[in-house]
Amino acid sequence: MSGFDIKDPKLAEGGRLRIEWAEREMPVLRSIRERFAKERPLSGVRISACLHVTTETANLMRTLQAGGADVVLTASNPLSTQDDVAAALVNVFEIPTFAIKGEDNVTYYKHLRAALDHQPHLTMDDGADLVSTLHKERRDLLSNVLGGTEETTTGVIRLRAMAADGALAFPIIAVNDALTKHLFDNRYGTGQSTIDGIVRATNVLLAGKVFVVAGYGWCGRGLASRARGMGSNVIVTEVDPLKALEAVMDGYRVMPMTEAAKIGDIFCTVTGDINVIDRHHFELMKDGAIVANSGHFNVEINIPALEELSQGKRLVRPFVEEYTLKDDRRIYLLGEGRLINLASAEGHPASVMDMSFANQALSVEYMLKHHAELEKKVYSVPEVIDQEIARLKLESMGIEIDTLTPEQIQYLNSWEEGT
Ligand SMILES: NC(=O)c1ccc[n+]([C@@H]2O[C@H](COP(=O)([O-])OP(=O)(O)OC[C@H]3O[C@@H](n4cnc5c(N)ncnc54)[C@H](O)[C@@H]3O)[C@@H](O)[C@H]2O)c1
Repeated sequence: MSGFDIKDPKLAEGGRLRIEWAEREMPVLRSIRERFAKERPLSGVRISACLHVTTETANLMRTLQAGGADVVLTASNPLSTQDDVAAALVNVFEIPTFAIKGEDNVTYYKHLRAALDHQPHLTMDDGADLVSTLHKERRDLLSNVLGGTEETTTGVIRLRAMAADGALAFPIIAVNDALTKHLFDNRYGTGQSTIDGIVRATNVLLAGKVFVVAGYGWCGRGLASRARGMGSNVIVTEVDPLKALEAVMDGYRVMPMTEAAKIGDIFCTVTGDINVIDRHHFELMKDGAIVANSGHFNVEINIPALEELSQGKRLVRPFVEEYTLKDDRRIYLLGEGRLINLASAEGHPASVMDMSFANQALSVEYMLKHHAELEKKVYSVPEVIDQEIARLKLESMGIEIDTLTPEQIQYLNSWEEGT
């Protein structure tokens, strides 16, 4: 095996057990792995993957490996790595992995570069750091690359911007666009795991708290509904009138962050935007306010401004930093403003990642077959793949549905029949 960089190989056995535990909840990906093992559709293909190093990702890596791919993995966030999983990937599954939880930015980029040294035919990204580093620093490798996939909203936005600038050198499939991805992963996965992250970090009671959710997209909807389910009084902030209206009709209070800042107990951003909680918001917050982020990058909370406003800070629990402002109010920042569901919890439950990563595996297979026909653009996951994953997921849950009768097919395709 080529190089790797992990925290501690002795963690491998614990990691293996947790990877197997996640696999129980990933029947769709498992069925793809079984087919891949027979058909070997990825034989000889080098893949560089940049994903959160979690138990679910390990099962995706095993699937690609079973398909014949030569795969390496690097972390897609400095704080999301599960060190036992990284150890198992290297020691049990022989997949070169470059990821250490808590690595600094220099190491993070060193790891990305190591993954690029693999000279990939295909890239698999979560947030587009790998693809952007490849385009900026390793243009010599571009001629080898047939295509790539992108996992998350923020990455898809970055890659569409690259394509619009004419800067993207190969086609990308936006896994996030699949309905079987964002409807379930962003909504139910982020919803549940963000609550999990906040609770594990703080152990605060959510019932009765004013919980402010910034952004009412797929993740925000999920988070708001789960916070309400825990008994919080939920406020939504938005910039899009349609999303704001939807939040109002869903029964939430909607107001600008300047108003929410004064009354919130817990804040969580999920926008993909920058400085959503800014200096003037910190100035308005109550003593003891808890602030977290579950969007992709740690820019949603203006941490440099919080630092400037503060007379000091200390770590009071793992993933909880107490900032004491100059007027002695305290603000608690969780997980350094990085996605809290992966920083202090385990990320999305395996059952939703089953669908997200089934999309990844089938999109890789699709890209290999079709790259020559594709332009240097960002493509949605083909609808047949989305439908097939939903069908397999229902089948794995033992749920049957109706099928259209010939009469119904004819009716739905005709325009003559009316009132
Ligand atoms: N934590 C995770 O595991 C996880 C999982 C999936 C996606 N994500 C990330 O979460 C972020 C959101 O993803 P999504 O799929 O919900 O995106 P989305 O585009 O569906 O929703 C984002 C919402 O934020 C709103 N918004 C933008 N700027 C705002 C501001 N200043 N104030 C209030 N609202 C604002 C937008 O109008 C939009 O409705 C992205 O960065 C994505 O990559 C994280």
